[in-house]
Amino acid sequence: MMSKFMEWVDARFPATKMWEDHLSKYYAPKNFNFFYFFGSLALLVLVNQIVTGIWLTMSYTPSAEEAFASVEYIMRDVEYGWILRYLHATGASAFFIVVYLHMFRGLLYGSYQKPRELVWIFGMLIYLMLMAEAFMGYLLPWGQMSYWGAQVIISLFGAIPVIGGDLTQWIRGDYLISGITLNRFFALHVVALPIVILGLVVLHILALHEVGSNNPDGVEIKKKKDANGIPLDGIPFHPYYTVKDIVGVVVFLFIFCFVVFFFPEMGGYFLEKPNFEVANPFKTPAHIAPVWYFTPFYAILRAVPDKLFGVIAMGAAIAVLFVLPWLDRSPVKSMRYKGWLSKIWLLVFCVSFVILGVLGVLAPTPGRTLLSQVCTFLYFAYFILMPFYTRMEKTKPVPERVTG
Ligand code: HEM
Repeated sequence: MMSKFMEWVDARFPATKMWEDHLSKYYAPKNFNFFYFFGSLALLVLVNQIVTGIWLTMSYTPSAEEAFASVEYIMRDVEYGWILRYLHATGASAFFIVVYLHMFRGLLYGSYQKPRELVWIFGMLIYLMLMAEAFMGYLLPWGQMSYWGAQVIISLFGAIPVIGGDLTQWIRGDYLISGITLNRFFALHVVALPIVILGLVVLHILALHEVGSNNPDGVEIKKKKDANGIPLDGIPFHPYYTVKDIVGVVVFLFIFCFVVFFFPEMGGYFLEKPNFEVANPFKTPAHIAPVWYFTPFYAILRAVPDKLFGVIAMGAAIAVLFVLPWLDRSPVKSMRYKGWLSKIWLLVFCVSFVILGVLGVLAPTPGRTLLSQVCTFLYFAYFILMPFYTRMEKTKPVPERVTG
């Protein structure tokens, strides 16, 4: 019965072909490690955000008068509303944790290098859209930090010469952040950006499956095939990695549920304290800081004394990641076989990024500003010096076949 049905479908739609191309006959390197869990986990969090988001939208009211109260209504009166909201709000932070680890894996194993440049670029576009999505979502509860955080970020566009003033007004749709701004952010957050992100994720995975996955050794498994044309170091994604990924999903859900049920605000880092107060355009909070996943870039912005140059530095900090595949001139991909200079610079980069993240949460003092300037310098040095140290250093020979 079933095979007859599939025959009927396959004659009209490439269902079996797609299943085989992307799962049962997609050969993935057999040496995937811990860091390879985060792609499938990013998919899981994406689905969580979409599903909980749809249900939140059923009870949320996107108007300046009612938004804050409608979130309180969801938390108190809507059945299971509290869990929907916590899954969604905590899910946003989980998304960035998972995506940062996913990107770190790329840096560690040179997954952005030829022939995976487009996989990386689509990934970076996802990251950019994800930041826009999170920023717009944060305005929706219409709390104090929603309002003033948006105020700080939108006003940055005002630093652009000539068009700055008009541009900020165009983004807000008003002379100040108002219900009009809230309405357009709502439309973009629930419709436009999710469609863009979903489309980009499809492109990301199609690009990856065209060239095949990298692995912790950075060995191209397609170079060594058996008589049937199957990579010697490859195993079918399904069932091997579909089952393995379930382990990652279970561990992730344990941690995620623990946070959702016991620490949904995460001490004010996932849901900031001023956001429990309704937005008030006449009362600026004493200390405005974006949510933790934006703070490294916020610290870079504040490290530069001039507003326009600060905005440029912040934009450049993200833009430079796009050209990473062309900055790395190393003959090898994985950090396992790169020289000590690459290893030290990756460490310096990661430590600077974390320190910037911490500094971005804190109120500035002269000492902190100096530290953020040093870290900003090191952040950029990692990229700017990369063409030199990756060419200069002595690399180790890469094995013919994957190890371990
Ligand atoms: C919604 C966000 C994202 C989703 C759902 C997603 C999904 C995936 C999946 C399922 C894989 C294959 C499994 C794996 O290798 O872990 C993958 C691979 C990859 N992703 Fe993403 N990704 C996302 C964001 C990003 C971002 C922001 C970047 C970097 C800028 C990125 C860069 C890569 C790279 C380089 C690979 C290939 C890794 C390799 O073969 O070693 N991804 N992604």
